[in-house]
Amino acid sequence: MEIISSVTDLRSRLRNEPAIAFVPTMGNLHQGHLDLVRIARQHGKCVVVSIFVNPLQFGANEDFGKYPRTLQDDCSKLESLADVVFAPPESELYPQPQQVAVIPPLENDLCGAFRPGHFRGVATVVLKLFNIVQPQLAVFGKKDYQQLYVVRQMAAQLNLPIEVVGGETARAPDGLALSSRNQYLSAGERTEAVFLYQTLAGVRQALLDGAADYAGLERRATQALGARGWLVDYVAVRNQAGLAQPREGEGELVILAAARLGQTRLIDNLEVCI
Ligand code: PAF
Repeated sequence: MEIISSVTDLRSRLRNEPAIAFVPTMGNLHQGHLDLVRIARQHGKCVVVSIFVNPLQFGANEDFGKYPRTLQDDCSKLESLADVVFAPPESELYPQPQQVAVIPPLENDLCGAFRPGHFRGVATVVLKLFNIVQPQLAVFGKKDYQQLYVVRQMAAQLNLPIEVVGGETARAPDGLALSSRNQYLSAGERTEAVFLYQTLAGVRQALLDGAADYAGLERRATQALGARGWLVDYVAVRNQAGLAQPREGEGELVILAAARLGQTRLIDNLEVCI
């Protein structure tokens, strides 16, 4: 496995690769990321993983400064799984202030409503990385469901010749979705954190049992989390196709939530087919 930090070196390394499968990450890799890399391996001859904590997608009061940076450890985990790790310094991807940006769909909805500019920052860096790596296929986790939707729409609407594949969310044995941000949780918060997943699972069961009052389900889930001390950004039942509010009788749904436990903002989602 090669570790490359410059765009020029990466381009010359990949020039003759006919089938590149790409997994963009911000590092601090856990089992969920490694699952995505394994999916990439099933599809591509050359597997490229990028590790870059993208300043463009963090708000002024967010955790850009403290986001865990563990490059050496990440590279050891990738040694037998990837062919190339692209780990550029910030000056390589942003030699000047980034003035051109991708305006993604739903940028002010769901997480976008609480993280202004976040999805613009994500879409812009992903497009830059796609242009640099030029993969045939890219893998993103369903844990960031809205991000996966944004990237899929960007690829489709900008006619990028890249297949975007979604990987299932990896979970701890108790159900908590794996996330680099879980390490911010205290021991007590970690025990409580699984309640987010349990709440979504409760909504999913209610939908499977025939409930169709989406607003009521969202309100009750929000109240249940709030009663235990969570600060809820949203709990939302949407359709899978466009992340829009479902029409009556629509069957392919997803329940999404974002909520803060202490200082840590957690997100999760569950698909449900009725
Ligand atoms: O999901 C992430 O880790 C990031 O948002 C991504 C896709 C690597 C873009 O910085």
